[in-house]
Amino acid sequence: MNDCRRWIYRKNSTSYDLVSDPRPAPSPTDLKPNECLVAVRAVSLNYRDRIQWRNLAGRNVDGAVPASDGAGEILAVGSAVSRFEPGEPVAACFFPTWRSGRFDLRFHQADLGGNLDGMLRDYAVFDENALVRVPDGWSFAQAATLPCAAVTAWVALVRRGNLQAGQSVCVLGTGGVSIFALQFAKLLGAKVVVTSSSDAKLEQARQLGADYGINYRETPEWSKPVWAWSEGRGVDHVVEVGGPGTLEQSMKSVAADGHIALIGVLTGFGPPTTNLFPLVARNVRLNGIYVGSREDFEAMVRFLNLNRLTPQIDRTFPFDQAPAAFEYLESACHFGKIVIEL
Ligand SMILES: NC(=O)c1ccc[n+]([C@@H]2O[C@H](COP(=O)([O-])OP(=O)(O)OC[C@H]3O[C@@H](n4cnc5c(N)ncnc54)[C@H](OP(=O)(O)O)[C@@H]3O)[C@@H](O)[C@H]2O)c1
Repeated sequence: MNDCRRWIYRKNSTSYDLVSDPRPAPSPTDLKPNECLVAVRAVSLNYRDRIQWRNLAGRNVDGAVPASDGAGEILAVGSAVSRFEPGEPVAACFFPTWRSGRFDLRFHQADLGGNLDGMLRDYAVFDENALVRVPDGWSFAQAATLPCAAVTAWVALVRRGNLQAGQSVCVLGTGGVSIFALQFAKLLGAKVVVTSSSDAKLEQARQLGADYGINYRETPEWSKPVWAWSEGRGVDHVVEVGGPGTLEQSMKSVAADGHIALIGVLTGFGPPTTNLFPLVARNVRLNGIYVGSREDFEAMVRFLNLNRLTPQIDRTFPFDQAPAAFEYLESACHFGKIVIEL
């Protein structure tokens, strides 16, 4: 086999550079009995990759391979592997050790593209239990969009949110998580309002089925039009990817007995700029969401095998232009996902 091309984070004075750091490819003969050798074909970026790269959360990732999300083909399997065969298309789970059931803090100690090497490399070796077969007929680029953004949106709305047909959903912005949330919500029969800084992106969201769009730059108090649109009831679910700077508007947008899925930190990691008491007064469910388990991923794949959903890939970069892909992520010009092909 050829060398294994890899990008790694290399510490600089304030954050990290992306550095090319090829290594010898892993050999199939070195596989442990339960391991699979995967040839990575595509990787997708998440805002989290920017957080690590720009050192926004103070986490040490020096020397780690970036990116939790990738898809590829099984090249070889260890002697005891029973779930996969060579040639099968797979994606790795964001938390390789969270199979099902309750979250455990130990799973966070083993996250891809964080404490564990991520997918921005030609070859990776995984325990077979860390892998999921991707939806039928999906390209590697499409499948690479799933492990973090799509699983998070799925868990937020379906498993934790218990979204029902006829309910309403508000998604914030038009990044990876939010656009998957929009697509799932529409397939599940919900009405969706999208906020964005861009009218052009709102139009793109409408073409994907969004029922209403609000430009949050032009209308900083966007909860007011959300309230009017929902006929004075509020929305049943808010996909809260903004964090401290958007929570007040999300709380003003949510219906009595509604649900806020607290997912993101696009406005930072600080405390919310508002009083949380309205959550009590409205009997709101506030769910902290941290991606999901393999069981969640597999449930989502079953849904995707039965329902037509095309992941929104804004732009694809070749492997050697990975730093340009990170710059593009940072520009926030994208709608949906950014992919790097190997
Ligand atoms: N807890 C978890 O498990 C989990 C999983 C995945 C992601 N996340 C977090 O969720 C957030 C979104 O991740 P992502 O990968 O989907 O991001 P992304 O693809 O980079 O999305 C960026 C988009 O977010 C929108 N945005 C930025 N600031 C905003 C604001 N103040 N109000 C509303 N929208 C805003 C912008 O959309 P417009 O251009 O349309 O304005 C921007 O283009 C991040 O904070 C990420 O860390 C958490």
